[in-house]
Amino acid sequence: MSAQIIDGKAFAASVRAKVGDAVAAMKADHDITPGLAVVLVGEDPASEVYVRNKGRQTLEAGMKSFEHKLPADTSEADLLALVARLNADRSVHGILVQLPLPAHMNEDLVVNAIDPAKDVDGFHISNVGRLATGQSAMVPCTPLGCLMMLRDHLGSLSGLNAVVVGRSNIVGKPMAQLLLRDSCTVTIAHSRTKNIEALCRNADIVVAAVGRPEMISDDWIKPGATVIDVGINRIDAPEKGEGKTRLVGDVDFQSVSQVAGAITPVPGGVGPMTIACLLANTVTACARANGLNAPEGLTA
Ligand code: GUN
Repeated sequence: MSAQIIDGKAFAASVRAKVGDAVAAMKADHDITPGLAVVLVGEDPASEVYVRNKGRQTLEAGMKSFEHKLPADTSEADLLALVARLNADRSVHGILVQLPLPAHMNEDLVVNAIDPAKDVDGFHISNVGRLATGQSAMVPCTPLGCLMMLRDHLGSLSGLNAVVVGRSNIVGKPMAQLLLRDSCTVTIAHSRTKNIEALCRNADIVVAAVGRPEMISDDWIKPGATVIDVGINRIDAPEKGEGKTRLVGDVDFQSVSQVAGAITPVPGGVGPMTIACLLANTVTACARANGLNAPEGLTA
């Protein structure tokens, strides 16, 4: 058997199109334009690429984009003052402070200074708690993208066995909460988990988010299972020439795609969904801030 490939690039384009339609409707019906502020401290090259892509896609969706680039030696107090200004700015509906922050800053303090209603990353402690207790919350973008793809592929997730491999605050834990909300039986596996292969082999859904290149192979996977690969790992690729590298996930795509029912590739799977869901969260935040219903199909 050969797995169906879940095309995250195409799915992300459809999410962006929905966001664009929702933005146009908000403008036409209410004269409101959603705005997203992205804050980058320092000059990490990977973060700069992310931030540029976020800004471009925000504008393409018809929204306002506000970019704040601060030097690496900015004081925590100055960053908190900027966050306070953005919290108070009525043209800003979403705030994202790019992580990681420089070592002299307390990330928890900064993240929790963001107005939870504008916290489009879903990292604020209040949104984490709201998600865990089933209240309406801003949901972290990568798990939200994974959930959208799972629902699209499987329909109802109710009663399915799901294993989330990885326990990060950004992906593993919120992913588990979302799957639980959709009535899956959820296990979070991690580096200390015993019999992890057997656990995964019992799963209808495996979400891999550990950051270990190609860790999950075909003998971990139940035939027909749906496999979502969140990993983005750059490894040496001598077969492409000296010094060349390639991107791989946490899943050994070659072998697992022979066993799984469906699988997301790397690249072109979960990756493109993350920014699409950031745009979706910004529209949702803007709608809620204005007493409107969040647009259909863009929330958890
Ligand atoms: N750095 C890498 N990914 C993310 C993300 O999703 N949000 C923020 N704020 N920083 C990141």
